[in-house]
Amino acid sequence: MIKLHDLYFKPFISENEIDNAVQRMVDEVVSDVQDEIPVFVGILNGSFMFVSDFVKKYPNPCEVTFIKLASYEGVKSTEDIQRLIGLTQDLTNRVVVILEDIIDSGNTLEEIHRIFKNEKVKKLSIATLFHKPEAYKKDFKLHYVGINIPDKFIVGYGLDYNGLGRNLPKVYQLKTTQYMTNFVLFGPPGAGKGTQANFLKETYNLVHISTGDVFRYNIKNETALGMLAKSYMDKGELVPDEVTIDMLRAEVEKNSDANGFIFDGFPRTNAQAKALDDLMDSKDSQINAMVALEVDDEVLVERLLGRGKTSGRPDDADEKIIRNRIKEYYQKTAILKDYYAAQDKYCGVDGVGSISDITNRLTAVIDKL
Ligand code: IMP
Ligand code: MG
Repeated sequence: MIKLHDLYFKPFISENEIDNAVQRMVDEVVSDVQDEIPVFVGILNGSFMFVSDFVKKYPNPCEVTFIKLASYEGVKSTEDIQRLIGLTQDLTNRVVVILEDIIDSGNTLEEIHRIFKNEKVKKLSIATLFHKPEAYKKDFKLHYVGINIPDKFIVGYGLDYNGLGRNLPKVYQLKTTQYMTNFVLFGPPGAGKGTQANFLKETYNLVHISTGDVFRYNIKNETALGMLAKSYMDKGELVPDEVTIDMLRAEVEKNSDANGFIFDGFPRTNAQAKALDDLMDSKDSQINAMVALEVDDEVLVERLLGRGKTSGRPDDADEKIIRNRIKEYYQKTAILKDYYAAQDKYCGVDGVGSISDITNRLTAVIDKL
């Protein structure tokens, strides 16, 4: 993922795919042009990189010139095309191939046709490396198209977002879910995870997804996924990751206007962490961090024993059981800590102190995400 100005973009078309598309276009043009010496007309600025690669691959004599037009403001195409540099050479009776980086609405192309209306060229054809068929509103024929893409804003390989991104050798696509902040919340038993999750979801308007709650909800409401999960549980088997992920996907889709999600109780394994990354990726989003409350074992034991005196929870009353739960937590989460640390997303937060102290430490971390 990359950030240009205020927006995030994800990798979309590799250098290799671009290279293959350019080569294919060159081959098609070569076979159509035959013995003529074509004039390639690049449309600046966006096409400079495409023109450069295209003509380097072009095996026969050719001429290269440019027109400079401008139509885009930010990430939107405008009707108003400015002619900044027009044709500077006589093209009478020449075979002309327009080289465009991208054809979107077709407004720019219309202007190109206007420019060529009075030129007595022998043949005019249009070659565009990228094309957005869903956005195209004109009838002009496109003779050579490199890669058809969906109607989403892209940058790289000559294309820019407000001036940035033209130098990137591959193409990136605008992420549509820009502003979500999602994190996985971890903490050993007694760390105060539940309390803090409640504060955080209020403060940031996040949706708290606790896998345990999601399971109970789906089973209670007898959803298809709930029944499927229950069928495994009834046999004493673990619910497969796909089923759990499908439930989480449904939760994420239900709350698509959320500012983000706090995942709690999931993932527990490397495979689940990867599946969660894939899920967020398919939603054009991402896990920003694993936020883990770090509390010394002795403090946890003390807290839980204290809680056991009043809560009556049997698993909070026995020191040996408590120590075991803590040990198990560290054994299970160590791999996940490594997983997220490898992506530079592990954020440990000191979980000792008053509730508000800890909340303040957490918000300081989350504000930076
Ligand atoms: P059209 O006039 O709408 O066909 O748009 C053509 C021009 O808009 C291109 O030459 C680009 O300069 C710009 N453009 C269109 N789509 C994109 C995009 O996804 N990223 C960056 N620039 C674009
Ligand atoms: Mg252009």
